[in-house]
Amino acid sequence: MTSLLDEAERLGRDELEALQLERLRATLRHAYENVGHYRAAFDRAGLRPDDCRTLADLARFPFTTKADLRDNYPFGMFAVPEESIRRIHASSGTTGRPTVVGYTRRDLDTWADVVARSIRAAGGRPGHKVHVAYGYGLFTGGLGAHYGAERLGCTVVPASGGMTARQVQLIQDFRPEIIMVTPSYVLTLLDEFERQGIDPRSTSLKVGIFGAEPWTEEMRREIEERFAIDAVDIYGLSEVMGPGVAQECVETKDGLHIWEDHFYPEVVDPLTGEVLPEGEEGELVFTSLTKEAMPVIRYRTRDLTRLLPGTARVFRRMEKVTGRSDDLVILRGVNLFPTQIEEIVLRTPGVAPHFQLRLTREGRLDALTVRAEARAGATPEQRTAAAASITAAVKDGIGVSVGVEIVDPETLERSVGKFRRIVDERGGR
Ligand code: DLL
Repeated sequence: MTSLLDEAERLGRDELEALQLERLRATLRHAYENVGHYRAAFDRAGLRPDDCRTLADLARFPFTTKADLRDNYPFGMFAVPEESIRRIHASSGTTGRPTVVGYTRRDLDTWADVVARSIRAAGGRPGHKVHVAYGYGLFTGGLGAHYGAERLGCTVVPASGGMTARQVQLIQDFRPEIIMVTPSYVLTLLDEFERQGIDPRSTSLKVGIFGAEPWTEEMRREIEERFAIDAVDIYGLSEVMGPGVAQECVETKDGLHIWEDHFYPEVVDPLTGEVLPEGEEGELVFTSLTKEAMPVIRYRTRDLTRLLPGTARVFRRMEKVTGRSDDLVILRGVNLFPTQIEEIVLRTPGVAPHFQLRLTREGRLDALTVRAEARAGATPEQRTAAAASITAAVKDGIGVSVGVEIVDPETLERSVGKFRRIVDERGGR
C-alpha cells in the first residue's frame, strides 16, 4: 500500500531534526545577508548566522515582533528583489499600518503543499469538494485554503465570506464534503440552514476545518453535533505563511501538529522571553525554515499555547490556542480570555452559542458584561436561570464578578469572518 503521508511526514524524529538544523542555518544566513533589519539585529546581539550550531542555539538570537514588520513597511523585510515576489498579502491591523507579507513562486508552492497536507490530515482526499468560506483578498484565509485544496486534488468552491443565504444554497446544490471557514461564521451558517428550514445534519458535509480565531472544545461539540461533521482546527498566521502552519488530525483531535519541516516552534515566557520546556504554557514563537521572500526569525505570535509531543504524526503538537495576549482582559486584577467565557456560555442551557463581551468603565473600575443570546423558545424563567448560572460559573471558575445580560434571539451581531468578541466601550484611556 502506498502511504497517504508525504515524505516529510514519514521522517524519524532524528532525521527531522537534522533537516530542521540544516534549513535553520540556511534561513539565518539568508535573513542576515538580505534583510537590513536582521543584519542590524544580529550585529547588535554580537551574533553571526554560523553561531547557530544546534537547534537550541536559536534561543540566543533576537526576537522579531509585529512592530519590526510595521517599522519596515511595506517591503523592508523582503529578502529577495521585488520582481521575484509573486504575491502580497496583508493583515488589516486594527490600528495604523497593515502588516505586509510577500511570497516567491517557491513560497506559494510550499504554502499550497502544507495546506494540502493539512486538508489531508483533516480527512480530505483528492476528488472531494471543498467549500472555502474564508475571506478572499488580502487576508490569507481564502487564497491559502484555495490553492492547498487544489494542490491536494480537490474541487474548490471559492465562496469567500458573506452572503450567507447563498452559501447555504451552494452547499445544498454542489454537495461539498469539506467546509473551510472560521468557527464563528459557521455558527452564522448553521442558523441560516435552520432559518431556511433545512436540517444542517442532512447536508453532504463531513468535515469542517476551522481556524483564524480561537475556539473551544465546547464549540467543537456544538458544531459537530448540529452539523453531524468532524470539526478540526487549523492554525496559521500571515507573518509565518498563512493557514496551514499547524493542523489537527481528524483521527486524534488532540491538538495541532505543527508542520515542523517548514516552521520551527518555540514557546517562551511572554515576560522574560526565556524558552520554556515542552508542556509549559507560554507565547508561541516561530522561525520559518524554507521561506524565501520573507524569512521570519523567532517571530512573536502573541498566541498562548504549549508544545506537546507528536501523536498521529512525528511533528510536535501545539495545544488549541487559548487566546492571544492582546485579547487578555484584566478585570480587577483577574486575567480572563474570551475562550473561558465561551466554555461557560456553551455549557449553559437556554442560551445560544452567540455572545459578546462588553467592557465598560464604572468610576475607576473596569466592568465586563457578558451578553448572550437566548435560544429561540427559551422561557423568561429559563433566561433568568441562565443569567444566574453564567454569573455563578464565571465567579467560581474565573474568580471575578461580571454582569450578564440574556438578550433576545437573533439580536447580537453575527460573524462573517474573523470575529471580535470584545466590544470595548471604555473610551480614551
Ligand atoms: O488567520 C490565517 C488563517 C486563516 C488561519 C484561516 C487559519 C485559517 P492572520 O489574519 O494573520 O492569519 O491572523 C493570525 O489568528 O496569530 C492567531 O491569533 C489567530 N489564529 C489563527 N488560527 C487560529 C486557530 C490567519 N486555529 C492570528 N486558533 C494568529 C486560534 C488562531 N487562533
